[in-house]
Amino acid sequence: MSQVAPSAPQIVTPKGLGPGFIPVTIVMTVINIAVMFAVLYLPLNFLLPSESNAASDSAVSIDGLFKFMTVFGVAITVYVSGYTAYFAFVFRRRPGESIYTVGVPIHDAPKLEFWWTLLPTILLVVLMGLTISVWKQIQFPDTAAALTTEVVGHQFNWEFRYPGLNGSLYSPTSEMHLPYGKPVKILVSSADVIHQFWVPEFRLKVSAVPGMVTQLNLTPTRAGRFDISCSEYCGANHSIMQGSLVVESPDAFNKWLAAAKVQVANASGTISLAGGDPGVGKTTFSQKCAACHNAGGTFDQKIVGPGLLHVTDDPAHPKLVDDKPPTPEDIAEILVKGYTGPIGAMPNRQANGLSDSDIANLVAYLVSLK
Ligand code: CUA
Repeated sequence: MSQVAPSAPQIVTPKGLGPGFIPVTIVMTVINIAVMFAVLYLPLNFLLPSESNAASDSAVSIDGLFKFMTVFGVAITVYVSGYTAYFAFVFRRRPGESIYTVGVPIHDAPKLEFWWTLLPTILLVVLMGLTISVWKQIQFPDTAAALTTEVVGHQFNWEFRYPGLNGSLYSPTSEMHLPYGKPVKILVSSADVIHQFWVPEFRLKVSAVPGMVTQLNLTPTRAGRFDISCSEYCGANHSIMQGSLVVESPDAFNKWLAAAKVQVANASGTISLAGGDPGVGKTTFSQKCAACHNAGGTFDQKIVGPGLLHVTDDPAHPKLVDDKPPTPEDIAEILVKGYTGPIGAMPNRQANGLSDSDIANLVAYLVSLK
């Protein structure tokens, strides 16, 4: 027994691209042009890095690259999602249409395929060309650097080295300085694990990799004080691995460098260990050293650095000083200059904020532990 099908309602299937295709295209194009002008001419500081924030020639070219990608990224998003929504609406199933109704099958649209292949290809080739030119400027600059500096990452601070400076400066106690208006080369490496040197106002970050030297070439363009961040997770205290970069006039920079030379020379002078107080040293140890060391056995309770019980009579520790048992003077020297070697790295006295008497007290305390 068969049922009589209800009379089919009048269904109007849209033809071609549908009735609203041209208006919808015009609306999306207007939106895209408006966004393009907004990206290029409005100070959209909450969305885009602002020009006043940029502090180097590299930042200006990277911002340009970013704006280029934003303009075309927005256009592609608007067209793709706009047409998807439009076609889904125009060719929706009408009331009364069977759920088994299929749309008009379409195979091959050579013209469309040609354009949707060619246009993205052109866009990507242009983007590649722009990217390579910016990359070349940062890695292989046309002009020789007027100043070469070195940055070494340590768990968890930055070491800065300068030509003519017989020693290193460490964050956060010391700042990195650069003169503006001169091309500089920044060589970056690491003493322990992989870090990443990042100055947001330069729009550049580069990995600090042990056993490898990476570099950035740029010309700072304005004076200011900028944050240096480690932007690659490197251990428990990654979040506090920060520093400051001071960009100043070449004259001010030269004055600072001269003063830093004096500071480093004074810091490596000899320290009188007489009168060191082990009790005071114990307190200093808990304040300044306990984040990385404890007073336990050399390696059985290692935190970041080794445990310092028996520092003067444990056979594992002479590695610090050419296979000889450390003397109090050796310990003082390591506290003054810091240490980089087979069992890790420790910043110098400036980075750790140690005065002469702090060092004398710490040595007295560490010697008393044996
Ligand atoms: Cu160093 Cu994260």
